[in-house]
Amino acid sequence: MSAPRHRPVAVLGLGAMGRALAGALLAAGHPTTVWNRSPERSAALAGAGADVAGSAAEAVAAGELVVVCLLDDDVTRRVLERAAPALAGRTVVNLTNGTPAQAHRLAEWVTARGARYVDGGIMAVPFMIGQPGAFVLYSGAEDAFLDWRDTLEAFGDVHWLGADPGRAAVHDLALLAAMYGMFGGFLHATAMVRAAGTPVGRFAPMVTGWLTAMLGELPAMAAAVDSGEHDADGSSLRMQAASFGNLLAACRDLGVDAGLMRPVRDLLDEAVARGHGEEGLSALVGLLHDDVGRPA
Ligand SMILES: NC(=O)c1ccc[n+]([C@@H]2O[C@H](COP(=O)([O-])OP(=O)(O)OC[C@H]3O[C@@H](n4cnc5c(N)ncnc54)[C@H](OP(=O)(O)O)[C@@H]3O)[C@@H](O)[C@H]2O)c1
Repeated sequence: MSAPRHRPVAVLGLGAMGRALAGALLAAGHPTTVWNRSPERSAALAGAGADVAGSAAEAVAAGELVVVCLLDDDVTRRVLERAAPALAGRTVVNLTNGTPAQAHRLAEWVTARGARYVDGGIMAVPFMIGQPGAFVLYSGAEDAFLDWRDTLEAFGDVHWLGADPGRAAVHDLALLAAMYGMFGGFLHATAMVRAAGTPVGRFAPMVTGWLTAMLGELPAMAAAVDSGEHDADGSSLRMQAASFGNLLAACRDLGVDAGLMRPVRDLLDEAVARGHGEEGLSALVGLLHDDVGRPA
């Protein structure tokens, strides 16, 4: 029996991420055509068997699936405009970071040119592509997603979020917010212990242990947000607002800029002032979102 035919694919954009994606498609056995503004970035992929297109339009013409991974929405739109005559009949999977509104606009524009549009958010760094732990969020044209799902699994686990093309971007950006919250907290903590003279390398394992323990709280917090029952579970916002003042005072004494922490203090104080002092941290979501009258 002959092996299943691998359909031809194209990748537009060979930055750090685009090169990883193209490499995964090649490794999965797809005839892969690549294009990049700076052609020198395609050399290693050409050595691994990729066809190098001289223009974005040439690449789009060569691939039934067109994976786009460029710097931002503006660049993506300009590159696709140059390839517009070749788009009809193609599936465009745009893995460029963007907003839900940008995804909606691009979906409309691509669909009007006779192609199917799937938006995506890559939850991985380039070296993770195709490795355990990598996952990618998708939303948009479901028939196109199902048609190419097996191919997209070459990048990492797939998460389908529905027909609204903006859904992947919302979840992608929300996950980035969670990541930056964690890194921001770590950077602030690191500045504090460094100012106190502790080698940061000795401190990092404590942070890992503490954050790992706190990660266990997330499912219960999520359930509390969904139910609206914000049990303090022994750690009231009133208590946390009081100790947060100590954190800021210690930063002042250590000469550490508390700019990353002050918004958290303000949120805690506001929650207590609004009568949420005996509730738990999950109640703060109501202050961030407009269900208690504050603009989102
Ligand atoms: N790297 C990550 O860790 C990571 C993780 C998740 C998601 N992403 C997302 O993946 C996308 C690509 O990221 P990356 O890491 O590959 O970025 P990158 O290494 O900076 O590559 C940017 C790409 O955009 C192209 N580009 C920039 N300006 C252009 C223009 N005016 N015209 C045509 N092409 C242009 C670059 O072409 P040249 O080579 O010619 O400059 C290159 O192909 C971004 O949206 C990023 O947010 C990245």
